Amino acid sequence: MASAALKLHEQKIQAKPFLKWAGGKGAILESIFDCFPQRFKGYHEPFVGGGAVFFGLQPKKAVLSDINAELINVYKTIRDDVDGLIRQLRRYKISEDDFYKVRARDPKRLSVVGSAARTVYLNRTCFNGLYRVNKKGKFNAPYGRYANPKVCNEENLRACSAALQDVEILHQNALEVTQRVSKGDLVYFDPPYDPISSTASFTSYTAQGFGRAEQEALAEVFATLARKKVHVVLSNSNTPFIRKLYKGFKIKEVFVRRAINSRADRRGPVSEVLVYA
Ligand SMILES: C[S@@+](CC[C@H](N)C(=O)[O-])C[C@H]1O[C@@H](n2cnc3c(N)ncnc32)[C@H](O)[C@@H]1O
Repeated sequence: MASAALKLHEQKIQAKPFLKWAGGKGAILESIFDCFPQRFKGYHEPFVGGGAVFFGLQPKKAVLSDINAELINVYKTIRDDVDGLIRQLRRYKISEDDFYKVRARDPKRLSVVGSAARTVYLNRTCFNGLYRVNKKGKFNAPYGRYANPKVCNEENLRACSAALQDVEILHQNALEVTQRVSKGDLVYFDPPYDPISSTASFTSYTAQGFGRAEQEALAEVFATLARKKVHVVLSNSNTPFIRKLYKGFKIKEVFVRRAINSRADRRGPVSEVLVYA
């Protein structure tokens, strides 16, 4: 192999989120990292979603969690059986007919790897990559009609698998994070956002939703951890409600271009906040 090609080959491929996820943080990673301390012990991301911040940071010791069981199953499968997942993904066909057949399958009746492959397939082929479930927890986003969606990005799946090798992955409510966090750790919270207006609400990542009571409970968790000398950083929308909840902490405003919104006219830059202590 020529030396330049060899060098490229030897370079570690930077893992990127393997799913499209509403609220992905890829575009504002630098602003988020500016709020992180230089040094910390363990890293925790209790609303991991697409994991853009984790994959951007790739900390040595990490615990990732989310309340979405199907999502957590994908993370575990990528960590523990990426070959099995790739084998299954290669078998999927891309057509509207196939999409609705796969969507109709009950993930609970599939194998662990089969269910993970179904989630990745639906995510890559559905409308806007919008992971949406109805009140019964059934995935209900429509077909996306993309010309050539990349269902199986083998290279990236393997890079993600390598990044996840020593990571603890939990199916857990974020409000329980206090139990496992110690002084000197870093916790990055990216909860479902407080809606900017009543029509802008997008809170259906899970059947449970995340309303004002949950935002208040989360602010309590944030304050408790800050008191325990845990480094805490949180993203949310820039609303009076959120500013009031986190009064007394440092707050930085950032502007984000949001790609996932069902209405094209709402895809302009929106103002968000980063709260940190
Ligand atoms: C804004 S998204 C996270 C986006 C992610 N950081 C990224 O870069 O793609 C919010 C996530 O919180 C999860 N979630 C909602 N309620 C939760 C709860 N009570 N506990 C833990 N996770 C929750 C959702 O399943 C979703 O994945």
